[in-house]
Amino acid sequence: MKTLVVRDPAAEAAGLIARSVVAGGQIALTGGTTPRAAYERLASMGLDWSRCTLWFGDERAVPPDEENSNFRMARESLLDPLGADAPETKRIEGELGAEAAACRYEHELRGVFGEDLPELDLLLLGMGPDGHVASLFPGKPALDELDRLVVAVPEAGHEPFVPRVTLTLPVLNASRQVLFLVTGESKADPAARAFGPDPDPTLPASLVRPRSGRITVLLDEAAAAGL
Ligand code: 6PG
Repeated sequence: MKTLVVRDPAAEAAGLIARSVVAGGQIALTGGTTPRAAYERLASMGLDWSRCTLWFGDERAVPPDEENSNFRMARESLLDPLGADAPETKRIEGELGAEAAACRYEHELRGVFGEDLPELDLLLLGMGPDGHVASLFPGKPALDELDRLVVAVPEAGHEPFVPRVTLTLPVLNASRQVLFLVTGESKADPAARAFGPDPDPTLPASLVRPRSGRITVLLDEAAAAGL
């Protein structure tokens, strides 16, 4: 695991994601608020997006135009600014309800990756103050799912407290490359517990260790304070 403390995580993340974009491939975005600046930077880089497909690591079970929608955040910061250059994007249909959306997304993944575990070329992840990743929350059943690719999370463990849809841990760890983007002092404690020398296994972020071994954690000084 490569841990990088940088002055401008959004710019660094955009640079790393850009490499995957131009190489083409299957890229999964994360939601929340942290990545917005990185997506805005990406949209301004004049990249050729024609050979990549975008996926989402998780989604809130809300309509795509609702303020809590991860797709809405990505549309506003990246897809709309790209306009006609925007890549094929596989949206999680949260408006269907969490279980139906999970089933449809799993079907979508199987349609592209077949019956094997999907191997995303790049998986972007954030981390919550409780150490959650995607919508895999500490102590919640979804974290223990080892068979399905996508599951519903009826009760989120962190705001917004709406039902969620999330990729499962096996899919996260089948990714060829994982990039964490973690900023702010509220992440200092979970970052120390997840990315330090003695990872706390109760934190979902501690369990994201792709079998490829390619995992980069980008932090700002505040989030890295405990490392
Ligand atoms: C979500 C995200 C989630 C996010 C963390 C951090 O749907 O909420 O996918 O996993 O990455 O909650 O969110 P912030 O970037 O807003 O701190």
